[in-house]
Amino acid sequence: MARIGVIAGDGVGPEVVREGLAILDDVAPLDGLRPELVEFDLGGERYLKTGEVLPDSAFDDLRRCDAIYLGAVGHPGVPPGVLEKGILLHLRFAFRQYINLRPIRLFPGVETPIKGKGPDDIDMVVVRENNEDLYVGAGGFTYRGTPDEVAIQTSINTRAGVERCLRYAFDLARERGRGRPFPALAPADRDKGMTGLVTMVAKTNVLTYAHDLWMRAFTEVSLDYPEIKAEYNHVDACCMRMVTSPERYDVIATTNMFGDIITDLGAVLQGGMGVAASGNLNPDRTAPSMFEPVHGSAPDIAGRGIANPIAAILSLGMLLDHVGAPKGASAVRRAVAHVLAQGHPRTPDLGGSATTAEVGRAVRLALEGQST
Ligand code: NAI
Ligand code: MG
Repeated sequence: MARIGVIAGDGVGPEVVREGLAILDDVAPLDGLRPELVEFDLGGERYLKTGEVLPDSAFDDLRRCDAIYLGAVGHPGVPPGVLEKGILLHLRFAFRQYINLRPIRLFPGVETPIKGKGPDDIDMVVVRENNEDLYVGAGGFTYRGTPDEVAIQTSINTRAGVERCLRYAFDLARERGRGRPFPALAPADRDKGMTGLVTMVAKTNVLTYAHDLWMRAFTEVSLDYPEIKAEYNHVDACCMRMVTSPERYDVIATTNMFGDIITDLGAVLQGGMGVAASGNLNPDRTAPSMFEPVHGSAPDIAGRGIANPIAAILSLGMLLDHVGAPKGASAVRRAVAHVLAQGHPRTPDLGGSATTAEVGRAVRLALEGQST
């Protein structure tokens, strides 16, 4: 039995989550998983009706779940920050989801805007620190609204918080290298027995306190992983290299703020917001982890049934891995790969004219194809 909390949320959230849940029904038996769904009516509509963002009772019920599946929150009628801070950030912090895992993988059949690059070149994972940095909300105003106004927002970095994030990244690189050594390693590094690469991305030349701590932790942690090459990039250089030579990245470990920014760039490399998946992980399993597409509620296309459900479906795949259903997880990824490779149906963001439901149905058909 796995209790799965579902926050469909706003805009396209419910449209894409519906497709993910239909697939969950199909794949759960592969691992003998019996999902019990607990639906939570949270988001902009509820806030506008009742003034409630995340009532205590919903929070307590969410804590009792094994995992949370989230569509998106964000509503044009609600001031920015109310729902994002009140629901998303609140759950990420309260449930100690200190890793935001964002795979960036170009599936065959999907076009990348990066000239001359293909699926072999774009296959990396961003490990974004998810509980610290500028997102803690430490700061304030003085003389607000006057010409003398001062606004301060502080980046919080703890040695323990940084170290657990970096260890997660090195462990992940080790695991990826076991399957297949990272292809872009230099021959000399291979000769030394190296199998993977972690690139830490920060800004040590300007943030000389916070990122000095990051660099010292990185250097020390890397000593425990002799088979993983450890490299460092400044975040601005990283943005450039993600475009010019994405094949040079395996696992990227970075801060909360920089991780947010570079993964939107990453989403573009892999075919857009419609295919980018993510997980907010509590690796210690002291509270539920939460899985969601990287995209938001997309008010510009909401209600038209044309949102791409692939990002939400791949996020469900990550959820399955987390709740101990690896067969279902890889079946989902194979089915998505099959549909993307055959080129149709696809939603308008990928150049097609299919609906959300048609793409969801095609993925379920591909799943059936696997079992026969
Ligand atoms: P967005 O991700 O919702 O949309 C950006 C662009 O990508 C839009 O053109 C949209 O049509 C497109 N897009 C997004 N998802 C798509 C999908 N599944 N298929 C096809 N196209 C898709 O970001 P935006 O517009 O900045 O934010 C909209 C609202 O969502 C805001 O209220 C924002 O705060 C919220 N938001 C919530 C997030 C979450 O719940 N995790 C993450 C990002 C934004
Ligand atoms: Mg973002």
